[in-house]
Amino acid sequence: MDLEVIKLSIRDVPDFPSKGILFKDLTTVFKSGEQLKELTNILYEHYKGKGLTKIVGIESRGFIMGPILAEKLGIGFVPVRKKGKLPADTIEESYEKEYGIDTIQIHTDALTENDVVLLHDDLLATGGTMKAAENLVKKFNVKKIYINFLVELDFLEGRKLFGEEIEVDSIIHF
Ligand code: PRP
Ligand code: MG
Repeated sequence: MDLEVIKLSIRDVPDFPSKGILFKDLTTVFKSGEQLKELTNILYEHYKGKGLTKIVGIESRGFIMGPILAEKLGIGFVPVRKKGKLPADTIEESYEKEYGIDTIQIHTDALTENDVVLLHDDLLATGGTMKAAENLVKKFNVKKIYINFLVELDFLEGRKLFGEEIEVDSIIHF
């Protein structure tokens, strides 16, 4: 399947969740079995040789493809959640969003220094969310971190927040 087909399936929703934001809605992609399989295969082919041991997905839209890929790779999935949602001991980071301040958390026993981690989210906009997640994962002194998005909004230059040593990969660019 041509990636352009998937790109064209992404629905633009103007002024959501607030005025001036053009929301990239991937539910229109996920509802297609064919497109879901294509995205899964692209991710699998890209990451299968990297020695990953955990996928860390960011609530909530990182919880869709993250576990699918983890299962296909035969590795575990770790959730990063918005504040107050994880039940056991957590560490947290706050960050600025296009639409307000947010805090994310991860369980203190979620990762070890032996892990090779893929951080996954659906979309890179300003990069604030992923930067906070990267800061959380770095606290575990893991062996290596990879970062993946399904969609990247190139014009917001969120990618600049990440060091050259980190491979940041997005499947679709706007
Ligand atoms: C959206 C999106 C990314 C983040 C990208 O999530 O799913 O996680 O914003 O923005 P940034 O690069 O500017 O940080 P949102 O916080 O809207 O929550 P959701 O995933 O629960 O819908
Ligand atoms: Mg999100």
